[in-house]
Amino acid sequence: LEPGEVPAQPLKVRKQSSELRSARWFGPADLRSFGHRSRAMQMGYAPEEWTGKPVIAILNTWSDLQPCHMHFKQRVDDVKRGILMAGGFPVELPALSMSESYLKPTSMLYRNMLAMEAEELLRSHPVDGAVLMGGCDKSTPGLLLGATSMDVPAIFLPAGPMLRGNWQGKVLGSGSDSWKYWDELRAGKITDQDWLGVEGGIARSYGTCMTMGTASTMTAIAEAVGMVLPGGSSIPAADAGHIRLASESGRRIVDMVWEDLRPKTIQTRAAFGNAIAVAMAMGCSTNAIIHLIAMARRAGHDVGLADFEHYSRRVPVIGNVRPSGDKYLMEDFFYAGGIRALMNEIREHLDLDCVTVTGRTLGENIDGAKVYDADVIRPTSDPIYGEGSLAVLHGNLAPDGCVIKPAAMDQRFLRHSGPALVFDDYPSLKKAIDDEDLDVTADTVLVLRNAGPQGGPGMPEWGMLPMPKKLLKQGHRDMLRMSDARMSGTSYGACVLHVSPESYVGGPLALLRTGDIVTLDVDARSIRMEISDEELAARRAAWTPPPVRYERGYGWAFSKHIQQADQGCDFDFLRTEFGAPVPEPAI
Ligand code: FES
Ligand code: MG
Repeated sequence: LEPGEVPAQPLKVRKQSSELRSARWFGPADLRSFGHRSRAMQMGYAPEEWTGKPVIAILNTWSDLQPCHMHFKQRVDDVKRGILMAGGFPVELPALSMSESYLKPTSMLYRNMLAMEAEELLRSHPVDGAVLMGGCDKSTPGLLLGATSMDVPAIFLPAGPMLRGNWQGKVLGSGSDSWKYWDELRAGKITDQDWLGVEGGIARSYGTCMTMGTASTMTAIAEAVGMVLPGGSSIPAADAGHIRLASESGRRIVDMVWEDLRPKTIQTRAAFGNAIAVAMAMGCSTNAIIHLIAMARRAGHDVGLADFEHYSRRVPVIGNVRPSGDKYLMEDFFYAGGIRALMNEIREHLDLDCVTVTGRTLGENIDGAKVYDADVIRPTSDPIYGEGSLAVLHGNLAPDGCVIKPAAMDQRFLRHSGPALVFDDYPSLKKAIDDEDLDVTADTVLVLRNAGPQGGPGMPEWGMLPMPKKLLKQGHRDMLRMSDARMSGTSYGACVLHVSPESYVGGPLALLRTGDIVTLDVDARSIRMEISDEELAARRAAWTPPPVRYERGYGWAFSKHIQQADQGCDFDFLRTEFGAPVPEPAI
């Protein structure tokens, strides 16, 4: 089924107009509804325009500081056109716009804020269904988390990847080439003038990062879990097909309201299995782990790190998109057949009976999808990385687990032992890293702590710790690094991430000292410090908790309620099983 195609099966119309949620606002002959109707008329809408029609909220995460969603300012009109054509009543509700590139200290601090906003916007307004407009990293899970908890019919409209970057005839990839050329600049291999050229050429159009970063990973996941029209997550933002996807999403959500097709019906445990399998086949961003755990748990399924390990061991990476792949970007992936073709390649790993926003099954959505370039979307018999593209590690450094991305690192470090060089905060690491006398060799294990959910705060994407200048000049481009931070999906390298529990709350990473030997064995899925239990106990007894990061405001509430990485970094009070379900507003 291509975007724009209408599902063949007849509509399962179940709802009457009087059963619409919005009818409780607009229908009754009482004083409050008088107010709702007269205020709609104040906006210039005649009763004929809304009476008996599904009111569709469009949660739009556009802003003047969100380059990836720049086109949403116009695209929202295409969504509205679709809704109107299908007999719905569109209302645009702006929602928190979180630019991955601008937000300090990190957009991850605000994912749950968007999730809360999305849920409460849908709850408090007279809406029957929602189109969720997002795509830049945390905006996808943020919107989906909120819509899932509220559980009104919803469809996700991904922003689409931007065009390939270009500089001096070379293709540039978001993120990945910034890190790459930054290291070249620091090693003296390119000039300041070259660097300015990269700056001007790396982001050429609106849309999300076009490497397999968190944005492309999360929108693919949104589609695999059933929340996006077929093929929608691969369409470049600047392609006319993206405009058609917008209006088709608008048309489709109206029918979804009549069919009462809700997020929790679509997002079954099997659907999350599909999402994890697709994430693995795409060579996904490590951030996917945190977001998917949170999303699955909101939908009522106890998905955890073990599920990622399960699929990672079975599903090979076949999407040859950087940084796991060596050459291609999302635009190439689209031309090669896109996500439908990728899913068709790995269909033996998918539950094809899962229902999607089309009202049809995933299997029906991907039937007949073809690969047009077998170097970009590889056959499973000739993958980019055989199995274990993401590995979940445990050991005395990470009792609740941590992750590494073997598909995007120097394979020399898969088994490694070396002395730790520990930094307690990013500024001191940054200060030391260019010191050419730094006591570091290629065997050193570079460690940053206090960078987790509470320590960061917000678990910033610092996990690809910068390479010491001394090693860069010696020609090294990778080394074993470890932190309780995350790393950008566009990053690469031998980086152990998401160490849980984090050091800030007293996880064992807090007890590691410079000079201690750290041993990684990816095959054995283990990470340890070679310290006796007695010595560890003594260090623990001497450990004192660091001061709180925030003493007021959102940051304070965040630190009180944020869960650890292995739990998905949701707020404890947003968990599905936390208290009784929230009732509909009474009057
Ligand atoms: Fe928006 Fe990468 S900065 S997707
Ligand atoms: Mg990113």
